[in-house]
Amino acid sequence: MTGPDLSVGVLNGPNLDLLGTREPQLYGDEGLDGILAALESLGQELGARVTSVQSNHEGVLADWIRDIGSQQDGILVNAAAYTHTSVAVRDALLAAGVPFVEVHLTNVWARESFRHHSLLSDIALGVVSGFGLDSYLLGMRALAAHLRPGA
Ligand code: DQA
Repeated sequence: MTGPDLSVGVLNGPNLDLLGTREPQLYGDEGLDGILAALESLGQELGARVTSVQSNHEGVLADWIRDIGSQQDGILVNAAAYTHTSVAVRDALLAAGVPFVEVHLTNVWARESFRHHSLLSDIALGVVSGFGLDSYLLGMRALAAHLRPGA
């Protein structure tokens, strides 16, 4: 394979910078750095260049989607708590017009009822929820398969 021909953005929302220490019984021991390293390495296998952002601030995420996410071929989105609340993140994704996969470390439907509703799922290609790090890796494979049909 020559250089990467796909570009994939990875968006991580609030408190995901605390992975590794945040409620490890739910979210596991892996830090965000480890997740991003695993995505980088899968990106190499799939021929995808990975560009990522993590922020605890809704406006920063909306700006990133507008300025950087919109320039990618696809986006992997774990908007964390903003999944359930943010019209701004939804609208930015709609404006960017880039296909995205929604991912969650935990199975959001097995948790509190306020996590059962996502403002993103109906505009996502699909949702992967409940498999920890594998949610991201499965989401990335699905995104690449969508972007390169038949490859
Ligand atoms: C999460 C699930 C959300 O409900 C929660 O607010 C998060 C993480 C997950 O990856 O399981 O912060 O998106």
